[in-house]
Amino acid sequence: MLAEVARRLGWANAFSYRSAADIFREHAALSAFENDGARRFDIGALAELSDAEYDALAPVQWPVPRATSPPAPSLRLLGGAQGFPTADGRANFVPTPLRWPVEPPLAASRPLLLNTGRVRDQWHTMTRTGRVPRLLLHRGEPLFEMHPDDAEALGLHDGGLARVESRDGAAVMRIRFVADQRRGSVFAPMHWSDAFSSAGPIDALVGGATDPVSGQPELKATPVRVTAVETRWRGFLLRRRATPLAGAFYWARVPVAEGHAYDLAGWTPLSESLSDAWVGALLDAPRQAELIAFADPGRGAFRYARLVDGRLDACLFLAAEDAFLPDRRGLAAMLDAAVEGAARSQLLAGLPAGSLAGDDPGPIVCACFAVGLKTLQRAIANDRLTTLAELGRALRAGTNCGSCRPELGEILARHRVEASPHAREPAN
Ligand code: FES
Repeated sequence: MLAEVARRLGWANAFSYRSAADIFREHAALSAFENDGARRFDIGALAELSDAEYDALAPVQWPVPRATSPPAPSLRLLGGAQGFPTADGRANFVPTPLRWPVEPPLAASRPLLLNTGRVRDQWHTMTRTGRVPRLLLHRGEPLFEMHPDDAEALGLHDGGLARVESRDGAAVMRIRFVADQRRGSVFAPMHWSDAFSSAGPIDALVGGATDPVSGQPELKATPVRVTAVETRWRGFLLRRRATPLAGAFYWARVPVAEGHAYDLAGWTPLSESLSDAWVGALLDAPRQAELIAFADPGRGAFRYARLVDGRLDACLFLAAEDAFLPDRRGLAAMLDAAVEGAARSQLLAGLPAGSLAGDDPGPIVCACFAVGLKTLQRAIANDRLTTLAELGRALRAGTNCGSCRPELGEILARHRVEASPHAREPAN
């Protein structure tokens, strides 16, 4: 496979690898090549691994220079006599003069300062983490976080859409109110690319200026203007293929067991978009697929499904309001399932038989054990849980990677405040 790709690119000789082990051996050998210790990354001791040794290789702490073969796990980078690659072997502080961001913050036309960064369950541009349905249960779209006072002053509401504009670009994003977001500052996650959402990548809003020493772009200080976008329709699309959607509407994609689920929202009247061609492009079904459809123009509700050999290949639900859309949990489980008889009309009603059993868990907080906000709230209230340890024992929430524990703590604290008798006393 590797050799074939190299051959097609015209580099058959330069990339004559037969396997991943071949590539790794060259990588290890290069790290040691003419390396007298000036380059701290040195895994030369691994350059002669056999294919079988490579396949069985356990995680290795580097450096492992040839001289240490067999690898000495206690050798710590920068920890030995060599220290740092500087003249005296010690780390040097480098004073850099203060330089303010290229575009002045808080200009009258762009009064908010955009900070971009990470969220807990994603990594870089989601090329790997974006394939794991469980990791998108907590945040399934790139939420734009604002302090409620800043947001309300602009006429925005929690969960609504807003247009975010900088000097360099613009995106329509979904707003999330966050009480501990600093006022005057807004946050957007860096992970969602245009393969996952119409709102990505957020870097399109960040200018090209970079720090002259580190090369780092000004990712934390982009002046932006935020304006409300009225949502005219909502949609939910399920399909087997993951190609990006085209058009002037908002979308965000998450993987599900047999395909992909998209949340859609539009700011122009649905009637302006709705056509056979538009629906067909969204469903993206094979030509032989059977189409079943339901339309209730009076309530602004339209539903479509494409079946291939009697199995659900794609379905699309459009409505004026979110309340008229089906429960996503049940429908996602229907993708690629056989849809026969009464199940066909049940599908378009958004109520696949037997798929909605059980209590709604609400938005997922603990992704490791798929524990949702409503499940947590029910357990806290019914079983009088007051600590993280009790939540962990009752629901396992927070007992694996622990990244949900701060949010679990906030939910417990919120419940304490709401359950306090003083919370219900009228203010004087
Ligand atoms: S998200 Fe990992 S323990 Fe909750």
